[in-house]
Amino acid sequence: MATNSKQGRATRAIKARFPDFKPKIGIILGSGLGGLADHITDPMIIPYDELPEFGTSTVSGHAGRLVMGYLQGVPVACLQGRVHFYEGVEKPVVQILVRTLKLLGCELLLATNAVGSMNMDAGPGSLMMITDHINFQFTNPLVGINDDEFGPRFIGLDHAYDPELRQRMLKIAEQQNITLHQGILIATLGPTFETPAEIRAFMMWGASAVGMSTVPEVIIARHCGLRTVVVSAVTNYAAGLSNTEITHAETLKYAAVASGSMLRLVGNFVGSFANDNPIPIP
Ligand code: HPA
Repeated sequence: MATNSKQGRATRAIKARFPDFKPKIGIILGSGLGGLADHITDPMIIPYDELPEFGTSTVSGHAGRLVMGYLQGVPVACLQGRVHFYEGVEKPVVQILVRTLKLLGCELLLATNAVGSMNMDAGPGSLMMITDHINFQFTNPLVGINDDEFGPRFIGLDHAYDPELRQRMLKIAEQQNITLHQGILIATLGPTFETPAEIRAFMMWGASAVGMSTVPEVIIARHCGLRTVVVSAVTNYAAGLSNTEITHAETLKYAAVASGSMLRLVGNFVGSFANDNPIPIP
């Protein structure tokens, strides 16, 4: 599949170093959640700047490296750090990161991110699983010539946040005694946080979480047939909903608070695939 493409070049570079490793689950680690990668056993690490076409993630709190290895015995490929449109990166970079996971053999994408919450019950430090999205980034990562080798020109997003995987995640949360809120994510372009007026409008649209990432990755993943599931770490109440000023430092602080339960949830979710081979298509 698409071996002459940019993601094909990146995949070949990875396979040249680790020819026998085939990950089953691709994981994207959001702001302040990179510590999850420390729990990967037998890690094989490649900094993004050593991979052709990967670009380097510039946001503090993002390491910018690919970590492959085993989480609870399941082979995973972890993107420790992502790129965002607000960095001015070209759309293809987002495509390359996710499609490389597909070319490496991943069947499922598990993305984490940091979000502002519009649900007063889901405060800073809590976890929210995403059930659907509103793309408010004024662009779409699939704009441009379609690469038919990955997927068709037009795709539906009805079940972008895989119902069966969400059920599985809820079950793990219950087993682990972790409160897992659920809600719709609205993606803004950033890099500014939102205005209180924007947040009031988003709440009327039914959104519960706001963030500057993840929606592009989910769209690219669905296009190439990766099943997706997203868990967000709430790092703040969205603009105008509390008296605390929203800052990147605050975001990192509460991502760290959420990271313990995130690790337990994600680790056990991944571990639940240890005996399923391959991941069933619903
Ligand atoms: N808005 C957008 N992105 C975010 C926020 C927010 O309030 N918190 C963490 N990422």
